[in-house]
Amino acid sequence: MACVLLTGGNGYIGSHTTAVLSERGHDVIILDNFSNSGRDVPDRLRRLTGKTFPIIEADIRDTATVTAALAEFPIDAVIHFAALKAVGESEADPLLYYDMNIVGTIRLLEAMQARNIRRIVFSSSATVYGQPDFSPIPEDAPTRVQNIYGRTKLVMENLITDLARTGKLLGAANLRYFNPVGAHPSAMIGETPAGVPNNLMPYVCQVASGIRPFLQVFGSDYDTPDGTGVRDYIHVMDLAQAHAAAVEHLLANDTAFTVNLGTGIGISVLDLVHAFEHANKRKIEYKIVPRRPGDVASYFANPEAAEKLLGWKARLGIEEMCRDAWVWEAKRGGINDV
Ligand code: NAD
Ligand code: UD1
Repeated sequence: MACVLLTGGNGYIGSHTTAVLSERGHDVIILDNFSNSGRDVPDRLRRLTGKTFPIIEADIRDTATVTAALAEFPIDAVIHFAALKAVGESEADPLLYYDMNIVGTIRLLEAMQARNIRRIVFSSSATVYGQPDFSPIPEDAPTRVQNIYGRTKLVMENLITDLARTGKLLGAANLRYFNPVGAHPSAMIGETPAGVPNNLMPYVCQVASGIRPFLQVFGSDYDTPDGTGVRDYIHVMDLAQAHAAAVEHLLANDTAFTVNLGTGIGISVLDLVHAFEHANKRKIEYKIVPRRPGDVASYFANPEAAEKLLGWKARLGIEEMCRDAWVWEAKRGGINDV
């Protein structure tokens, strides 16, 4: 059993990973500045797991506070979720993204080095592939970042890989997530997007709950089976299990690796709408509108490396993703007939 510090552990993917690590018998310490997550999450996690997780309220760039905090616990490994993640915002404020994501990661790694904590799992993104030549995408596909958010992810991956190559880190895992969706099946934790959702599943949920009248489907003239954009949606619980598998692998082996985390299944926008309607017996009104600038027609993972290396593969399908996303949304919105 390990003691794992989760930066950004109060956020969407971090909170689900906290629940899974705890269930697998690990001790979890959360470090978060609450800039993009609710003050209610720690209590939700306590009710869900029956445990209270120590929380360090700090910004990852604050080396002195983080170093001092790391001394308080016998930390074996860090999972580094804390970051800014909005593509549009990264283009509007590049320095903010370079500072928070890259400088923040350097400061965290300095604090880890000062405390001789030498294993890290990093939240990367399939966005590093940009416009892929083909799908399913293997990890050795070219990286062609198309925006500043994606560039910060690639720089952080390289930074971590270099520290592992030079022996500064003993274990390093870059996990390239495809499109995380859904929520814990208990509906006690989930995703809470601020304002109008950018991403498809949260938007569909808000159409289902009546907050938004209809979904805008961004383009139906792509070179895909039904003309709408194809993505690899992955249930956040599967993603959380992958983090636990990655940490456990790093604790057992001194190694560095980069793997895709996806299902390997391409789902179109209309596939997702129909799966949602079927799973939840709710009608999703939609209108076809022009393409969203910057969108890629289709991408999905080749997930074989993660299975071979970690013995992990995604188990939950699009119906479960739609069901769990909706139950969370409905419960938050006070809708009782779900
Ligand atoms: P999130 O915003 O829900 O969680 C991030 C957490 O980090 C939040 O609790 C926030 O308060 C905290 N945080 C942000 N900046 C911080 C800082 N400087 N110091 C301390 N805490 C800070 O995001 P998420 O969806 O859970 O994503 C987690 C990670 O996964 C991010 O690195 C993100 O880039 C990456 N990722 C997310 C997706 C996705 O679709 N959600 C896809 C690919 C990669
Ligand atoms: C976006 C981000 C990516 C990030 C990912 C997280 C961009 C350009 N990319 O990717 O960096 O890692 O989210 O999951 O922002 N769609 C609609 N209507 C909507 C919303 C989306 O039709 O209201 C379509 C999109 O055109 C796309 C699909 O749904 O075909 C998925 O979109 P989205 O959930 O935003 O994810 P990505 O574009 O893959």
